[in-house]
Amino acid sequence: MSFDRDLVAPDAEGDERLIEAALRPKRLEEFIGQARVREQLSLVLQSALRRNRPPDHVLMSGGPGLGKTTLSMIIATELSVPLRITSGPALERAGDLAAILSTLSEGEVLFIDEIHRMARPAEEMLYLAMEDFRVDIVVGKGPGATAIPLEVAPFTLVGATTRAGLLPAPLRDRFGFVAHMEFYDVAELEQVLHRSSRLLGLQLPGDAAHEIAGRSRGTPRIANRLLRRVRDFAEVRADGVVTRDVASAALNLYEVDAEGLDRLDRAVLGALLRKFGGGPVGLSTLAVAVGEEPETVEVVAEPFLVRQGLLARTPRGRVATAAAWVHLGLTPPPDAFGASMVVDLEDDLGHA
Ligand SMILES: Nc1ncnc2c1ncn2[C@@H]1O[C@H](COP(=O)(O)OP(=O)(O)O)[C@@H](O)[C@H]1O
Ligand SMILES: [Mg+2]
Repeated sequence: MSFDRDLVAPDAEGDERLIEAALRPKRLEEFIGQARVREQLSLVLQSALRRNRPPDHVLMSGGPGLGKTTLSMIIATELSVPLRITSGPALERAGDLAAILSTLSEGEVLFIDEIHRMARPAEEMLYLAMEDFRVDIVVGKGPGATAIPLEVAPFTLVGATTRAGLLPAPLRDRFGFVAHMEFYDVAELEQVLHRSSRLLGLQLPGDAAHEIAGRSRGTPRIANRLLRRVRDFAEVRADGVVTRDVASAALNLYEVDAEGLDRLDRAVLGALLRKFGGGPVGLSTLAVAVGEEPETVEVVAEPFLVRQGLLARTPRGRVATAAAWVHLGLTPPPDAFGASMVVDLEDDLGHA
């Protein structure tokens, strides 16, 4: 048994990247939600423009699909400067980074996606470049090695990370501004959906947008993806007309339920409740019960279930909450794990 994760996976792959590029807001004022980040960033950018200096380096932290790449492109657009894009995994050696830094033009925005995955030597070179706009290129090896200093044009680093906790403190401290991207509420996702529908030339009634938004896991990328599935369904089965019922039928067909849970999520919860009486049960036992790798269960299904307050990771194993029983239409036992306890435990374990 294996599950098609494409529909509610927060990462984008293949063709989806092209479609996403077309749906990306280009200016800050088009960017929906994240009101606090937007206001903070707008101040940073305006004052930089006023002083005619590159703004402080910006770190964007938040889960996949929340708009980090979009926002970094917006920063370059708002400053009317070029944008250079790379990613942590591409910077394996210090030389990879030096090659980029030495060719930056003044004021350019350098976007490093997944910055927590940079190699150590590149990271150390980056500290110096961020602070002093200078790097030391080491030539030769051993006792004969010499460091040749190289000037770097003043630039703005925009880093994006899904795991801010993995960034070493010296790197984190060199960002003047950290934008914490939050999950979007349903009303904001409705706006995202209306905007995307306009761009796709699709009529989307308000109640249909509401239906899709509620199943989108707080994530614009998923909202846009569900919208395309609803559009496909409507074209084939409903003469291209999207209504709330059409949206709901489409998403039911793709097995995305009213809370955004998909087949794997429900299989994990179902096994936890029906086979293990709600837990606690170990990760690998639970994974075997749904015929998946432990890592798939842990990385793909659990974070969302935890966030929805349906599952808790405790030192003794995975535990279903009272809400999980209710979600699957079952009666919670009197001693079912309460929702308030879940929050406490997550805090204690340091991954709330
Ligand atoms: N605030 C937003 N307003 C409108 N669309 C958004 C917003 N944030 C993200 N999106 C859409 O979601 C998709 C994924 O966003 P992206 O910036 O690639 O996320 P991340 O880099 O955080 O994974 C983009 O194609 C964009 O169209
Ligand atoms: Mg991205």
